[in-house]
Amino acid sequence: MGRLNTVVAIVTGGARGMGASHVRGLVAEGARVVIGDVLDDEGKALADELGKSAAFVHLDVTDDQSWKDAVAATEETFGPVDALINNAGVVQWKPWLKTSTAEFTRVLNINLTAQFIGIREVVPSMVKTGHGGVIVNVSSTAGLQGFAAEPAYVASKWGVRGLTKAAALEFAPQGIRIVSVHPGVVETPMTTDVTEDSYDQQPIPRKGRTAEVTALMTYLIADATYSTGSEFVIDGGAVLGPVVPVPLEAD
Ligand SMILES: NC(=O)c1ccc[n+]([C@@H]2O[C@H](COP(=O)([O-])OP(=O)(O)OC[C@H]3O[C@@H](n4cnc5c(N)ncnc54)[C@H](O)[C@@H]3O)[C@@H](O)[C@H]2O)c1
Repeated sequence: MGRLNTVVAIVTGGARGMGASHVRGLVAEGARVVIGDVLDDEGKALADELGKSAAFVHLDVTDDQSWKDAVAATEETFGPVDALINNAGVVQWKPWLKTSTAEFTRVLNINLTAQFIGIREVVPSMVKTGHGGVIVNVSSTAGLQGFAAEPAYVASKWGVRGLTKAAALEFAPQGIRIVSVHPGVVETPMTTDVTEDSYDQQPIPRKGRTAEVTALMTYLIADATYSTGSEFVIDGGAVLGPVVPVPLEAD
């Protein structure tokens, strides 16, 4: 018996990286999952691999109509939506003075405005379930602290944190829990260029594994029944700051 046997979920950005891991993990726990992404080939291939428990829809998370179509397709295929993982995102490492307004706005649209649209389009479907639902908004440690040379990414991920708290209050009466997740550096196509020196000083000195974040997602959907509006950090201790070695025998 899986922990998510009755759950219908949408995972945005589900075609690859952390999103694909979440799709696999939710299906393994018994959920039926719609993979929403702009990467049609990868998304369809993953859905084919997983069989009847998964379906792919082309979803551009920045587009209102695309969301309406994705929610309608989910209801038609599996029924009303119990869980949404707002995972789709892009990073932009670029110095402030080199970042155009269009580049800044593009990142805000994909990482933040899209989560606003997704919540607005999914909540009516969650109400139809009769028992509410769960929305997990993927932020980052960049939503908890500052990083140089990625102004749009940092602003978008702090925005996700605020959006989550506003939504958690507004939709509590409908029984919908809404939380944010803040990963540190996790091994995905997004971080292939991230070098070891960016995490070798953190308490757990390695990249995170997608399966570790997926385990948190499963907990948040299945078991975190007393949490809403909360921030769940999964970062190898990165936000604590660098480890300072102290000899165990020191006076
Ligand atoms: N990898 C990390 O270290 C890390 C750390 C903190 C937070 N995050 C966040 O986790 C999430 C997943 O990141 P990842 O590392 O798996 O990256 P990834 O690049 O492997 O996957 C991102 C997915 O989002 C999809 N996407 C992008 N724009 C989209 C759009 N307009 N509509 C629909 N889908 C779109 C991509 O096609 C891709 O499948 C992102 O929100 C990212 O900001 C990642």
